[in-house]
Amino acid sequence: MKALVLSGGSGTRLRPITHTSAKQLLPVANKPVLFYGLEAIAAAGVTDVGIVVGDTAPAITAAVGDGSAFGIRTTYIRQQAPLGLAHAVLVAREFLGDEDFVMYLGDNFIVGGITGLVEAFSVARPDAQIMLTRVSNPGSFGIAELDPLGRVRGLEEKPRQPKSDLALVGVYMFTSAVHEAVAALQPSWRGELEITEAIQWLLDNGRTVNSTIVTGYWKDTGNVADMLEVNRLVLETSEPRLDGVVEPDCEIIGRVTVERGAHVASSRIVGPAIIGPGAKVTGSYIGPFTAIAEDCAIDDSEIEYSIVLRGASIRGVRRIEASLIGHDAEVTPAPRVPRAHRLILGDHSKVQIGS
Ligand code: DAU
Repeated sequence: MKALVLSGGSGTRLRPITHTSAKQLLPVANKPVLFYGLEAIAAAGVTDVGIVVGDTAPAITAAVGDGSAFGIRTTYIRQQAPLGLAHAVLVAREFLGDEDFVMYLGDNFIVGGITGLVEAFSVARPDAQIMLTRVSNPGSFGIAELDPLGRVRGLEEKPRQPKSDLALVGVYMFTSAVHEAVAALQPSWRGELEITEAIQWLLDNGRTVNSTIVTGYWKDTGNVADMLEVNRLVLETSEPRLDGVVEPDCEIIGRVTVERGAHVASSRIVGPAIIGPGAKVTGSYIGPFTAIAEDCAIDDSEIEYSIVLRGASIRGVRRIEASLIGHDAEVTPAPRVPRAHRLILGDHSKVQIGS
């Protein structure tokens, strides 16, 4: 069995924080979401992994390399434009050959991995195996309708009037039958070759499509609350480690990871929390469920239940909560007189001011 990981897409559909970077590299507990997927694939025993890349190919290849760090072997497959998930299968045809494969969307996060799913597929070998999960915004996903016996009756991509709240999770398993389905597709209303339609084609042509309902799933839908939640979930199970420098005047409580090269002084950190390599935390409080990425500077500030991305700095600000702070962002106090907020916000930014 092979794996096909989709890490393409241009910048145009990306949500606030990912305007300038690949969304598959958004960090959860300081690790790109894509890495969790690659680890799950390796844990399921699949080592031959094709990675579909687009405009952000340099960032993806720099991060993943030959895959040896994950125990996999990577083949990069260039997709000239993000013409759809089924189009990605089309361009990967040579790599996939006639083998069974698991297709994994690089911006999806699945708590608990995919080992059970891969095993079940290998035993039953339906032509397609899909995962479904209940969502509150079905219009943003592919949606499945099941019959009373729980069999897949039909699928629809981002329906205006969803027939259920069961969304397709971005992990699919296929036999080579999918290639015939993909070859028969026409672009959808949004100009893409939809994998949802390829699976519908399999159903319509009497092929077997199995489904499993899962919980513990997250995808970047621009919803920061969800991202903070998945960050919390992962931090809760992280192994505490103090590899960086923690000065004696600090108080470290609970599951706290301080990476090598980080420096923490005169601060209180209440875990679960992670401080990335090269980050400097001085005279500050870092509260539970906070991930501070590499090379950040947190000085004379308080922050909790938040994600701070690479190179951001927060100085003299208290208290920040439930926030996502982008790469190299700077947060500092405004002058006290006159009492005013001074903001330089990127497109699609969201700010809640506590006054
Ligand atoms: O995440 C689950 C959803 O993923 C499913 O419920 C939908 O049925 C499915 O169509 C897909 O929805 P999105 O439209 O939100 O997918 P998105 O454009 O975000 O692409 C998913 C991943 O695949 C992302 O990592 C980018 C990559 N991609 C996407 C396209 C369209 C490619 O590599 N090439 C592409 O052509």
